[in-house]
Amino acid sequence: MRLKSHLNALFVEAFAKAKIDAIPISVTEASQEKFGDYQFNGAMALSKQLGKNPREIATEILNALDTSTLIAKTEIAGPGFINLWLNDAWLSEACQNAFQDDRLSISLKLQSQTVVVDYSGPNMAKEMHVGHLRSTIIGDTLANLLTFLGDRVIRQNHIGDWGTQFGMLVAYLEEQHSDTSANLKDLESFYKAAKSRFDADESFANKAREYVVRIQSNDAHCLVLWQRFIDISLQHCEDVYRELSVKLTREDVKAESFYNDDLVNVIDDLNAKGVLTESEGALCVFLEGSQTPVIVQKKDGGYLYATTDLAALRYRAKTIQADRILYVVDARQAEHFKQVFEVAKISDFVPQSVRLEHIGFGTMMDSSGKPFKTRDGGTVKLIALLDEAVRKAKKSIKEPSKFTSQEIEQLAQVIGIGAVKYADLSINRESNYVFDWDKMLAFDGNTALYMQYAYARIQSIFRKHNASIEGKIVIVDPLEHQLAVMLLRFEEVLIRTSEDASPNQITAYLYEVVTLFMRFYEQNPILKDGVDDITKMSRLQLANLVARTIRLGLEILGIDVVDQL
Ligand code: ARG
Repeated sequence: MRLKSHLNALFVEAFAKAKIDAIPISVTEASQEKFGDYQFNGAMALSKQLGKNPREIATEILNALDTSTLIAKTEIAGPGFINLWLNDAWLSEACQNAFQDDRLSISLKLQSQTVVVDYSGPNMAKEMHVGHLRSTIIGDTLANLLTFLGDRVIRQNHIGDWGTQFGMLVAYLEEQHSDTSANLKDLESFYKAAKSRFDADESFANKAREYVVRIQSNDAHCLVLWQRFIDISLQHCEDVYRELSVKLTREDVKAESFYNDDLVNVIDDLNAKGVLTESEGALCVFLEGSQTPVIVQKKDGGYLYATTDLAALRYRAKTIQADRILYVVDARQAEHFKQVFEVAKISDFVPQSVRLEHIGFGTMMDSSGKPFKTRDGGTVKLIALLDEAVRKAKKSIKEPSKFTSQEIEQLAQVIGIGAVKYADLSINRESNYVFDWDKMLAFDGNTALYMQYAYARIQSIFRKHNASIEGKIVIVDPLEHQLAVMLLRFEEVLIRTSEDASPNQITAYLYEVVTLFMRFYEQNPILKDGVDDITKMSRLQLANLVARTIRLGLEILGIDVVDQL
């Protein structure tokens, strides 16, 4: 249901009927009993153009406005605002339709696009860190959302599996020759051990350098070792994905190494386009307005992060045929993406029509405002962080005696992981944010637990009712009216979120829905004696809509619900 679009269409009609030669400015969502459900502020802007005062124009628009269906009441306020109240009968029917529809009346996009979502992208040489956690959570949400809206979504995990450090790691792995997976249990210490060996022993360092060359020239022995290393490292990441119930699989992995054979063509084609300049032996692209050039090949012939990204951009545009490509990567890489996007466009690697977007995000901070690290300055192991979330969640269960120990384990998983994900997704993604256990595991406020709790509470109403739900939705109460309007805004919230790739619009919306429902429910009990059958059935259906809205919203965010809490 696209409420706002419906209203806007009525204004377009009214403008034509009143012979006002302008495109009406869109209505805005108001949602206050006093000022209406929507507001139209266009009259003021037209005043100069038409040489009339805004209230006069507002009156003309209102005279032409069709108020026979969707709009119940109008009012001109202040200098010429038009306040609009929606019709209860219309809302009742729209809610009824949503109740009967699996998709809650949220339609599929008319024009489905192919969208690549590049997210997670951990580096295989080291443990995944919190930056990858954010990318993974936000990226997965965007991929879920676009899929739900009907796009063809291609998830791409651009893992870092190539580079000089692998020579060292593979040489060290070979030297250790005991059980590989045991050695690689802790990637961080393995890396450190290899590095100190490299720094201390010249002959090992030489071997490591030799192995870099051998890996790059497809030497079978080194490649086998390298592959084993990547495999195990990837398994670590998959542990995290599983724990997070993130949908990335092996099929989504398109590693940096996948583009190796194409890098020489990237250079040739950039050259043919005439965009390459040699500078101190390196091959660069100088972009207008950019301080630093994009280096695509080093003096020693080596390629760079940017070269691989150019190959990946071309692959995504030409082979996958993406209409839109989202890069969910730390905001600190903004300059890199700005540059490679531009190079890709001026070199025809990517058609002009393809939307390239860097979906940047801020840094996760600890409570003292410093970037999230372990006490000794190392990276926090994500798996340990998630385990801790589950442990803390277990303690937050209010009445553990209601559940079996197995149920408690499951609940803790859903609550703990949900809390971490929701806390991340509910802030403006571009800002830095403070990782705060107490806040994210709170029952009150804009948290996962608040949503999960509301969901479970509604389920308990249904358990008590314990019969089928029939009859019609009839909106009568003012709070009920507000709730209905809010419920019918879901589709437009999702569309906006998909446009600006900002999941916090979904969480903010869910928070409004649930808060409104809680207020409504407090004043209007559903199953209490004395509530007549028609009202009861109507409210049960509204409660059902609220629950399904929460469930769908959380599902898009990759968060589970439970029937009992
Ligand atoms: N591996 C990179 C990092 O850890 C992220 C990869 C992002 N994707 C990309 N196509 N560059 O910073």
